[in-house]
Amino acid sequence: MRQSLMPLTDDRQHIKIRGRRYTAPPLTSTCSVVCQSYSEDNNTGGKKLKNDRLANTTSFITALVAFAERRVIKMKVLITGTSRGIGLACAKKYIEMGHEVIGLDISTSDFIHANYTHIIADITKNLPDISDIEILINNAGIQEGGNEIDVNLKGTINVTEKYGIQKKIRSIVFMASSSASNGAEFPLYAASKGGVVTYMKNVALRIAPFQATSNSISAGGVITPLNQHILDDENLYKKCLNETLLNKWAKDYEIADLTYYLTNINKSITGQDILIDNGEQLKSNFIW
Ligand SMILES: NC(=O)c1ccc[n+]([C@@H]2O[C@H](COP(=O)([O-])OP(=O)(O)OC[C@H]3O[C@@H](n4cnc5c(N)ncnc54)[C@H](O)[C@@H]3O)[C@@H](O)[C@H]2O)c1
Repeated sequence: MRQSLMPLTDDRQHIKIRGRRYTAPPLTSTCSVVCQSYSEDNNTGGKKLKNDRLANTTSFITALVAFAERRVIKMKVLITGTSRGIGLACAKKYIEMGHEVIGLDISTSDFIHANYTHIIADITKNLPDISDIEILINNAGIQEGGNEIDVNLKGTINVTEKYGIQKKIRSIVFMASSSASNGAEFPLYAASKGGVVTYMKNVALRIAPFQATSNSISAGGVITPLNQHILDDENLYKKCLNETLLNKWAKDYEIADLTYYLTNINKSITGQDILIDNGEQLKSNFIW
């Protein structure tokens, strides 16, 4: 008997049994997924399963349940700043991987999915009660305007103290910035992100007793609406790319992939700031 679990494409899982492909409902219960496939095989195939085949199928189902349950453990994920850019890419990534996502943003969202809840909230103000968050992604941030310390640093601390410091937490990721380590960009922005990296380490110490990790991602240029004015100016964009070693900026989904790695695959990296900048900080001319 040949069987395979197809990769997840959206919230539905495709299961192939004896060359026939079944689409199962979202991963609320692996058992119901498998049982539905089994009954479809029985009912729509028009063939009656013989007793020995039934026994084989039952043991196959048991193995499949064990495999599928090991493969996806649904987690409760809270992400800030999900209306657009990196936060939206992260929301889509965790949904694609079968998790429940709650997004907090001051703006509305066009993203609709059965496993996604969008809450309009300002991270600097009183926050809604949400219990048992397992993964927290502190992404919301602003680049200029004078409130960078309040939003990027104090807002992030506000969110983390409310949802992150509790025994259900498994992992926290903070969107810092390359400017946290080189001091470049706008003064308040750089200072706020430097504060985020230090606070991330403080959190790593405090959630370690729960076997949970805390890390930050420090991106250089990322293609998001935040940088639209640069992307729209060919000469300016070219100059920015020329500052990097690889002559490019990262895509939003690359940051989402790295975030997912840190929260769901990583078990041993904690208290670290990960630079993803296309070699911008490394680029230097050797003069002899
Ligand atoms: N894009 C880059 O080049 C880049 C580079 C390094 C770091 N970052 C950081 O990554 C994060 C995301 O960046 P992006 O490019 O996706 O930005 P973005 O401006 O496209 O998205 C930020 C989101 O945060 C939300 N937000 C802003 N203030 C908020 C508040 N007070 N409460 C709730 N939500 C709020 C916005 O509404 C928006 O949806 C930011 O923290 C940013 O500093 C971005």
